[in-house]
Amino acid sequence: MRAAYASAIDADDPLAALSVGDLAAPEPPDGWVTVDVRASSLNHHDLWSLRGVGLPADRLPMILGCDAAGIGPDGREVVVHAVVEDPADPRGFSLLSERHPGTFAERVSVPAANVVAKPAGLSFTDAACLPTAWLTAYRMLTTRGRVDEAEAVLVQGAGGGVATAAVVLAAAMGKRVYATSRDAGKRERIAALGATAVEPGGRLPERVQVVIESVGAPTFEHSQKCAAPGARIVVCGATGGMVAPLNLPRVFMMQLDVLGSSMGTAAELAALMDLLVERDIRPVVDSVHGFSQVRDAFARLERGDVFGKIVLDHTR
Ligand SMILES: NC(=O)c1ccc[n+]([C@@H]2O[C@H](COP(=O)([O-])OP(=O)(O)OC[C@H]3O[C@@H](n4cnc5c(N)ncnc54)[C@H](OP(=O)(O)O)[C@@H]3O)[C@@H](O)[C@H]2O)c1
Repeated sequence: MRAAYASAIDADDPLAALSVGDLAAPEPPDGWVTVDVRASSLNHHDLWSLRGVGLPADRLPMILGCDAAGIGPDGREVVVHAVVEDPADPRGFSLLSERHPGTFAERVSVPAANVVAKPAGLSFTDAACLPTAWLTAYRMLTTRGRVDEAEAVLVQGAGGGVATAAVVLAAAMGKRVYATSRDAGKRERIAALGATAVEPGGRLPERVQVVIESVGAPTFEHSQKCAAPGARIVVCGATGGMVAPLNLPRVFMMQLDVLGSSMGTAAELAALMDLLVERDIRPVVDSVHGFSQVRDAFARLERGDVFGKIVLDHTR
């Protein structure tokens, strides 16, 4: 079947490690089901995989992709939840494309519990944006960040998939939202989504109770400075650098919580989809590419001039 996969590891030039071509369809183990993929979406995770982060060479070739929406084995429209229980992994789980073939293919196999009904009100391309970036932002805000107790939220690196999702969701929940971006054009676009746009490191008019961090080293000091007493700084990634100093006096004097967050549960994915339908919210889509343009889609993600999600339409 047609697939986009990592055929090598290249820390410096991830696109050189990407191949597109025919691979054998997965053989689903007992209790797994196969979904015909109609749409998928790219995540920074796919670039990390090509660079060898979380994907050792002995697992190659590996079909990439965490996110998919499609048709389940009983003909229902479904969304694939990418978190697979995995006792062999130190986290207790792995994401599709780390140990099991991912979603950038005609078909993907997952445990039956990883298939969630797609609401009719969401298109395949919209639904395919949700299982990684939007689910991560939803869990960061709700379960981890306790945003219901907050009045104001700061989102760092506003153009990204997780960040645009966090801005839209926090604004829909009635919070005052501040968002930083390095790019003036992205600051304009994030303001149109309901945030007050700020230059990186810029002073906010107030301290916030929740910070959504996916940038890491370049923004982490600012995140700590902007945090109100008792605030939650919720970290899901570190695109701009993996190591950042903690200002310990600030952490203990302001009683800050620095919390890690990864993906979310299938129940959280279902709740997120219900929220989108109920409030008529749709994911922020940067661009939709036919599957045959998957390499262009990866190049766009790598350049970083992205605002929202890059989607692959598997029907063309
Ligand atoms: N733990 C999890 O479950 C989980 C889930 C999803 C994502 N993640 C991680 O979260 C991160 C974001 O993912 P994504 O898919 O949203 O990525 P993305 O769409 O590629 O967005 C990354 C954003 O980070 C900002 N950025 C990148 N480099 C920067 C730098 N040097 N300085 C300042 N800002 C920088 C950019 O914002 P501006 O251009 O607007 O400044 C960019 O739009 C990735 O590292 C990913 O691996 C983790």
